[in-house]
Amino acid sequence: KTGVVTYDPGFVNTAATKSAITYIDGDAGILRYRGYPIEELAQHSSFLEVSYLLIYGNLPSPSELTAFDEKIRRHTLLHEDLKGFFGGFPRDAHPMPVLSSAVSALSTFYQDSLDPFDKDQVELSTIRLLAKLPVIAAYAHKKSIGQAMLYPDNSMNLVENFLRLCFGLPAEQYELDPVMVKALDLLLILHADHEQNCSTSTVRLVGSSNANMFASISAGVNALFGPLHGGANEAVLNMLRQIQASGEPVEKFVERVKNKEAGIKLMGFGHRVYKNYDPRAKIVKATANEILSRLGGNDELLDIAMKLEETALTDQYFVDRRLYPNVDFYTGVIYKAMGFPEKMFTVLFAMGRLPGWIAQWREMIQDPETKIGRPRQLYTGAQERAYPSR
Ligand code: SDX
Repeated sequence: KTGVVTYDPGFVNTAATKSAITYIDGDAGILRYRGYPIEELAQHSSFLEVSYLLIYGNLPSPSELTAFDEKIRRHTLLHEDLKGFFGGFPRDAHPMPVLSSAVSALSTFYQDSLDPFDKDQVELSTIRLLAKLPVIAAYAHKKSIGQAMLYPDNSMNLVENFLRLCFGLPAEQYELDPVMVKALDLLLILHADHEQNCSTSTVRLVGSSNANMFASISAGVNALFGPLHGGANEAVLNMLRQIQASGEPVEKFVERVKNKEAGIKLMGFGHRVYKNYDPRAKIVKATANEILSRLGGNDELLDIAMKLEETALTDQYFVDRRLYPNVDFYTGVIYKAMGFPEKMFTVLFAMGRLPGWIAQWREMIQDPETKIGRPRQLYTGAQERAYPSR
């Protein structure tokens, strides 16, 4: 407002906006959705209930939750022409660009719910996205493995339906594994929102031009794809498998990270805000052993991850830089145990983050004070100079 632009290299501490949705204390390792600690929501809530909480601001009554669930179940079908969309991608397309393209394309099929200032249209887009993004995600997976895309089954809830669409086959009844359903539900809760991270800030910035919800969320999917952000969960598993394949001791790999050989990082470690243990990583680690023992996952990769953590947390290099495991460090081992290919890990992150993106976009549209304005810069280029006369 003063018109004076100052440049703060420690920019991480400057507030881009205000918001009433999620609270993080990076030093204390605290995360709360609408005031509820993540530990309590992880223990007692469901992804559907947390989605409602983030979007509408309060926990739903049982009847409100049932109505919300019902509405979502009734919007899972994709427009038949949108299903044809998947045929246009190469077989080995990464599912993240498929997801962002299809989400953006939703605005061409559902033109009756694009007005950001019409409450009913915003509500309809909210339900359509919550219901259809998991179906698009599942179809991107089926496309990548050349399998048939099933129609959603409305007798199942959002998470159950997603698992059936990913792993079910037309020729047989899909048996839901309650351990898988519960594990995925927990991981989706842990990813549901996280204040003004890269992808959420992208959703807000795109939305600040009054772009519709589908276009804004599609931009968020693209931002999440970056390996320093949501793409890290896929990068962690590649790192663990490289260590496993190399047969080298974990300590050797850590030394290479400290020497910054070829710019390698300890993926899944470090955070722009948490300078303490990411509370989500703590919850994932605590349940990883139990989930893997029930799903029969590759616990050698989990062992490598735990050894990496143990080595790093006692090494001054990481302690000095306040580098701890973040949410991405352990999740990939569990996703793999569930049967997802590595390329789907960031898609699962996007599925979890969707209610947070929607909640933040709605807040920004409803309260212009929370719009991330047009960022300014400190100009460091050439001063005015005349074009040479020739
Ligand atoms: C997510 O913002 C969010 O909330 C994001 C997220 C969400 O829920 O939306 O939490 C999800 O994106 C988690 C982060 C996933 N990314 C990764 O795991 C990729 C690996 N981590 C880093 O690239 C890095 O830690 C960041 C980008 C996440 C955070 O970087 P910082 O805290 O700004 O630190 P920095 O890049 O300024 O580095 C500070 C120092 C540097 O060393 P020096 O130059 O001082 O010698 O720490 C080093 C860095 O080289 N460093 C690492 C490291 N992360 C930082 N060294 C090795 N391994 C790492 N992972």
